[in-house]
Amino acid sequence: MKLFAENVSRKNPKLKYRSVWQFPTSTEDFIKKHAKGKILHVCCGSSNLGDVRIDRWKQENQKSDGFIIADMFHLPIKRDSFDTVIADPPWNLAYHVRHKLIFSLRDSIKWSGHLIFNCLWFPKIKCMKLQDLFAGMNNMAFRNVSLIGIYKKIQDQLC
Ligand SMILES: C[S@@+](CC[C@H](N)C(=O)[O-])C[C@H]1O[C@@H](n2cnc3c(N)ncnc32)[C@H](O)[C@@H]1O
Repeated sequence: MKLFAENVSRKNPKLKYRSVWQFPTSTEDFIKKHAKGKILHVCCGSSNLGDVRIDRWKQENQKSDGFIIADMFHLPIKRDSFDTVIADPPWNLAYHVRHKLIFSLRDSIKWSGHLIFNCLWFPKIKCMKLQDLFAGMNNMAFRNVSLIGIYKKIQDQLC
């Protein structure tokens, strides 16, 4: 049985590689449009979007200015200090630690500021209201879609 067309070489197939975790340009542009004021980007990977960018590892094309190596569960950030927090965490994050991440993101946001959360799950967050939820539609029928939730901080957290 012939699996390949005549003009496709099995030895030298034309493969295109790209970082699978990286924001597609369209996602980055979409998020940029919604991010206002002083911006913190948690789990930024190779994206240079944001005034302060945090990731556990520094990617090659990540600029040094504004980049901090830190753990998303223990952000070295003053409480209530950013207008917008963007987060693109690992999508398969274990269930039992998701709330820890959400609380550290929320606590970094000023009252009335926003969280832009890109993931496959969208949490209910105390002190925040889900304002909008967008699905990144693609043409690949069986591929996961990214959900971008935009939350507004409507109340200060008590502790
Ligand atoms: C979905 S990728 C984000 C990719 C990014 N949007 C980009 O355009 O490159 C998730 C990121 O979370 C980072 N990460 C994983 N565990 C982390 C942790 N405990 N603290 C901080 N960053 C972490 C990974 O290094 C990775 O860059």
